[in-house]
Order: sequence, then C-alpha cells, then structure tokens
Amino acid sequence: MKKQIVIATNNANKLKEFKSLFANTPYEVLSLADINFTGVIKEDGESFSDNAVIKAMTIHKLTNLPVIADDSGLSVNALEGFPGVNSARFMEGSPYTEKNAAIIKMLEGHSDKSAKFICAIALVGLDSFPQVFIGEVKGTIINEARGEEGFGYDPIFFHPNSQKTFAEMTLEEKDEISHRGRATALLFEYLETHYF
Ligand code: IMP
Repeated sequence: MKKQIVIATNNANKLKEFKSLFANTPYEVLSLADINFTGVIKEDGESFSDNAVIKAMTIHKLTNLPVIADDSGLSVNALEGFPGVNSARFMEGSPYTEKNAAIIKMLEGHSDKSAKFICAIALVGLDSFPQVFIGEVKGTIINEARGEEGFGYDPIFFHPNSQKTFAEMTLEEKDEISHRGRATALLFEYLETHYF
C-alpha cells in the first residue's frame, strides 16, 4: 500500500507539478481538498524556509499524516532578490502577463539579467522537528515572454542549458531541472530512509 503524504498548497499549478513528481513513487499525494481543508494560511515568514515550515506545521496540526509544503519564488539579482518571498503577492490580483511585463520593464537598462528560482520544501510529521529541502535553478530574464506551458514567471525565465524558457518546456522537462524538482529529489532521498 502507498504511504500517504499531504501537500499543503492551494496552488493548482504547484499541485500538478507535485503530482507529476510523485508519479511512480511509493507515496500517494493528498491535496488540501482531499483532507477537506479550505482555509487560508498566513505566510508571514521572512524566508522561503520559514513560510514552508509555517504551512506544513499548520496542516500537520490538523492531520496525523506527514505533510510537505513548498514555498518558492523568483529572485532577480539586479533587483536585489526581488520579488523573492513576495513572488505571489507582487502586483497581487494582476495577471502574470502584467507581472511579467513589469519585471521585464524593471530590468530595462540593466546588463545583468540573471535570476534564479528557489524552492523550499518543508516536511513535518516524520521527525520531532521539521526538515527543509532547498532547490535552486539559475537562468536569465528575457525581454519578451515566451511559451504557453507552466505558470507564474515561467514565460520570462530562460534556462540557458535547455535554450528554452520554463514555459516552453513540458511538465516532465521542467521537473528534471526545476527548483521544485531539485528540492523534491532531496526530499525523496530523505523519505527513502525515514518513511517506509
Ligand atoms: P508561494 O505560494 O507563496 O510559494 O508563491 C510562489 C510564487 O512564486 C508563485 O505564485 C509564482 O509567482 C512564483 N513561482 C514559484 N515557483 C514557480 C515556478 O515554477 N514557475 C513560475 N513561477 C513560480
């Protein structure tokens, strides 16, 4: 029988990526809808790790199952890490076409267009303290959004080794190299020895 693990996210795109990352593993991923949680968790931590732990702890208190939560975002070097932990809240309510256009505009005149995606995954419920796994991927912000796949800032995030933006990749291609894919690989190593 598969081992159950809850993913503390209301973000449908993240859930889709996690379901794909967990396909063919010994773990069954349950969403917040599966455990009938409809609330909103306040993310007031100062770092990706803090926020991931806050989310995972909140949900673990409501269930006896192990819980993972991801907090992630885009960090643009020339903008001193902006939008960072505020990636979701930046221009909240505006579509990503506008948010992406705004980031491109903020970088006008900057020669350094380097950026990275960061993902912190917190795991709560297998140990007496939370575990956090961090994944990063480096890229550059391009001057025009490209691609229809993915979500969020994917259309402006160009991955040099792949010669594609994240929005030009299939889900499987993105899983291979993404911040979320890398953090999840570290999580799987841990789960292998702690959840069986
Ligand atoms: P969180 O739910 O507070 O972790 O917000 C994460 C936000 O970071 C998302 O809403 C996106 O704006 C951005 N983000 C995180 N991961 C990705 C990704 O894989 N592609 C594009 N944008 C991402």
